[in-house]
Amino acid sequence: MFFHALNIDSSSRKALQHVAKSTGIPVARLKAIDAHGFEPTAAEIERLAAFLGLTEIAFRLRTGFLSRPLRKLLAASADEIDKLLGAKLGNVASFNQTPSKTVAPSFSTDFGVLYQGDCVEIMRSLPDQCCDLIFADPPFNLDKLYPSEMDDDLRQDHYLEWCEGWLDQCARLLRDGGSLFVYNLPKWNTFLSAYLNKHLTFRHWIAVDIKFSLPISGRLYPSHYSLLYYTKGGRPANFQPDRMPMEICPSCLVDLKDYGGYKDKMNPLGVNLTDVWYDIPPVRHAKYKKRKSANELSIKLLDRVIELASKEGETILDPFGGSGTTYAVAEMKKRKWIGMEIGPVEDIISRMKDLKDENQYLERIRDGYNKLFLPEHAAARKARGLWTASSFNNRSPENLEEKQQLLLGPY
Ligand SMILES: C[S@@+](CC[C@H](N)C(=O)[O-])C[C@H]1O[C@@H](n2cnc3c(N)ncnc32)[C@H](O)[C@@H]1O
Repeated sequence: MFFHALNIDSSSRKALQHVAKSTGIPVARLKAIDAHGFEPTAAEIERLAAFLGLTEIAFRLRTGFLSRPLRKLLAASADEIDKLLGAKLGNVASFNQTPSKTVAPSFSTDFGVLYQGDCVEIMRSLPDQCCDLIFADPPFNLDKLYPSEMDDDLRQDHYLEWCEGWLDQCARLLRDGGSLFVYNLPKWNTFLSAYLNKHLTFRHWIAVDIKFSLPISGRLYPSHYSLLYYTKGGRPANFQPDRMPMEICPSCLVDLKDYGGYKDKMNPLGVNLTDVWYDIPPVRHAKYKKRKSANELSIKLLDRVIELASKEGETILDPFGGSGTTYAVAEMKKRKWIGMEIGPVEDIISRMKDLKDENQYLERIRDGYNKLFLPEHAAARKARGLWTASSFNNRSPENLEEKQQLLLGPY
């Protein structure tokens, strides 16, 4: 990006060495500015601009490194710039609205429709504000081999530019109050979050614990994926997080957390969901995987997101189908869904045709929510003389009238 903007031939070692020698900026630093978009320091800009025979302003305009004073100057000169660029600017402004050809669906159910193709193209063909919830789990640019054989090893600026393209569409397709979740590595989500902050309202950075990761030399042990949670406009139209059972020791069943010592004030319908999710299992075993390669998310994760941010009958879109986890969970939870996948879609289709086992698994997952203890744990704790929700009979979950209020109550 940076080399390209300055007409520097980055494929030629000699050309790079010449720039480095003339400016005193090492080749490695020049490459980092280009690959990572690091802003050159004021001194580096001065030397680079002098070497290229540019003014500082021309250098900054060409490379996009717009300082705050320059942004102010551009804003103050808006009328003159408008006159100067007039027609050209008109084309840029209408770029994102380019209408797309209609794409035919590959598969549909009573609730959903699956398209095969590029998600940006397909999303462009959909009308504004047609979705209540969007969940996106894009490729992480880790050089993985996907069935579509897509390039998963892009330069950083190309990957981010591509992400901004589909994020623009997500923001457009969300209705007011709708929610967007983006699952990615923390490194990428720092950039995507900065971009999304300009379009949507930040709600949470959710850390999803990684169960089986490997240490990386010279780094902290990577232990979480990032799940960004944004809404369109100020307040979310839906926000119904499940309540979680209290953390207890799996063998001796004693409390693992103190919760301020207020046992009698613990909500019998469980503990408030936090922004750290420790309980999402990886889908690793070949027996459970719905397609051989690439990442597949747990239905437990999608169930939690869908429950939190949508109601039955509402519409969920996922631009990156993979094995179709979002569509399977949406279907089981009676949400409408819009799916798309650039690679083969046969595995998604066969999955959608038989959701019986997954439905049973989903029921088992949901049995564990919205109660302070699982029934078997409550009984075993009682037998061991440990407190349970019914030890404090003024807050019993059996009292249905109280239930609604308890859902909103403390902890
Ligand atoms: C990380 S996987 C998604 C996994 C999915 N969440 C699941 O649980 O199975 C990303 C998927 O996005 C697909 N993909 C990549 N680029 C795409 C594009 N431009 N349009 C549609 N799908 C794309 C890849 O082929 C891959 O299957």
